[in-house]
Amino acid sequence: MRERGCDSNVRINSIKPKNPEMDLSLAIYVLAFFPTIFALDNGLMKTPPMGWLAWERFRCDIDCRHDPKNCISERLFMDMADRLAEDGWRELGYIYINIDDCWSSMERDKEGRLQPDPQRFPGGIPKLARYIHDRGLKLGIYGDLGTHTCGGYPGTTLDKIHTDAQTFAGWGVDMLKLDGCYSNSTEQEQGYPLMSKALNATGHPIAYSCSWPAYQGGLPPNVNYTQLGEICNLWRNYDDIEDSWDSVLSIVDWFSDNQDLLQPAAGPGHWNDPDMLIIGDFGLSLEQSRSQMALWAIMAAPLFMSNDLRTLSNNARAILQNKVLIGINQDPMGVQGRRLLKEKTHIEVFWRPLSDSASTLVFFSRRSDMPYRYRSSLGKLGYKAGNYKVYDVFTGQTMPALTDTTNFTVSINPSGVVMWLLSPTKLWGREGEHPSLLHNHVEEIVHPILL
Ligand SMILES: *[C@@H]1O[C@H](CO)[C@@H](O)[C@H](O)[C@H]1NC(C)=O
Ligand SMILES: *[C@@H]1O[C@H](CO)[C@@H](O)[C@H](O)[C@H]1NC(C)=O
Ligand SMILES: *[C@@H]1O[C@H](CO)[C@@H](O)[C@H](O)[C@H]1NC(C)=O
Ligand SMILES: *[C@@H]1O[C@H](CO)[C@@H](O)[C@H](O)[C@H]1NC(C)=O
Repeated sequence: MRERGCDSNVRINSIKPKNPEMDLSLAIYVLAFFPTIFALDNGLMKTPPMGWLAWERFRCDIDCRHDPKNCISERLFMDMADRLAEDGWRELGYIYINIDDCWSSMERDKEGRLQPDPQRFPGGIPKLARYIHDRGLKLGIYGDLGTHTCGGYPGTTLDKIHTDAQTFAGWGVDMLKLDGCYSNSTEQEQGYPLMSKALNATGHPIAYSCSWPAYQGGLPPNVNYTQLGEICNLWRNYDDIEDSWDSVLSIVDWFSDNQDLLQPAAGPGHWNDPDMLIIGDFGLSLEQSRSQMALWAIMAAPLFMSNDLRTLSNNARAILQNKVLIGINQDPMGVQGRRLLKEKTHIEVFWRPLSDSASTLVFFSRRSDMPYRYRSSLGKLGYKAGNYKVYDVFTGQTMPALTDTTNFTVSINPSGVVMWLLSPTKLWGREGEHPSLLHNHVEEIVHPILL
């Protein structure tokens, strides 16, 4: 399908140098050019995919004898499927249960097909797929273009692409993440498009996540984002996330520093993937967890949690299940947001345009002293003249309407965010009404509407 960008909905924004604290080289933001992108035509992932992925939390733990609850086995994926189905996740859009590395046997079978480790997946993948489908969920699996997976399991060399695509389709798999360990750039250039064709040829809709750009430095000219949009539904651009705030910051910085190149590549059916959500693990404070969720929504990022849904804290759950935040992430227009400002005070402001002239702002503190009172106005942030209704995404409060010239102050906690959903007041209903969510089912649009 040929997709046009959203040029009709988005105006050119530019910030005039009113505020002496602004770094002007970063203060200019333009969303004028949405090149015509031919998206992969499998009908999938019109909004960023959501679900659960094993890797960051459970890695390559294959010691089922000593760690039966946490090892990579069918039990782990069935447990997580139960949680997604029973604890309110599925209804919010978290529908993928994704296997990562270390699921397979060390040997292919006699016909040269991949097979799961027989001890850890005694029921086989088709049975696991049925278990997951029965709960209204989808199953993702992992492969690696190369001689071996990163964990040393059998890889998918060029001659095995067709076989592996057929195997996955035959098993009822709904998504493939294709990693790139143990292959070189020539093989990747051939292999990633070939797998896209091979998946299509199976006749089964299988979403396709490509790690290709991450192996080629993530940037043009080594990476051709036009081509990626034609062959993959999502792609990992950069390093694997780790369970630490430093890791989250390095990812946010890389994506923001390179946003002019990356932001236009994203759109319905084809997304940049800054990697998993680590909310609910060990490395992030409450403020930092909110920041990851807010910034991933700005980036129109896939929301794959990698945590233990069996033992998740209520704080983590509240962040991950925030409906308005999810609605912002899932906005059907599918325009990735941007960092607008990097202040000398170590406050950064992010913005993303949404459907129906709505938008979201995230005020992010990189400070480590105390809550910082940041003063600005919507006009300074590039907003057109007018009245805006503001909803605070984490407190759930609707604020008094702002005009573009109203001076406001937000208090931002260290390593935390304040996140606003804004809309011009003419689109809002009676004074005081809150935004709510139109909630459609899986793979459908989930986005904030204005009452
Ligand atoms: C395969 O590609 C064609 C043309 O791009 C598309 O119409 C079709 O839906 C795709 N099929 C699958 C299963 O992805
Ligand atoms: C990539 O690997 C293939 C097969 O091992 C080899 O023939 C080819 O020369 C390599 N290409 C590069 C650019 O290293
Ligand atoms: C990038 O890919 C597109 C689509 O496949 C192609 O038309 C274009 O020539 C490529 N650009 C470069 C610089 O190779
Ligand atoms: C907002 O603050 C600026 C100074 O930063 C001032 O010039 C302006 O008059 C104020 N606007 C309003 C509406 O109070």
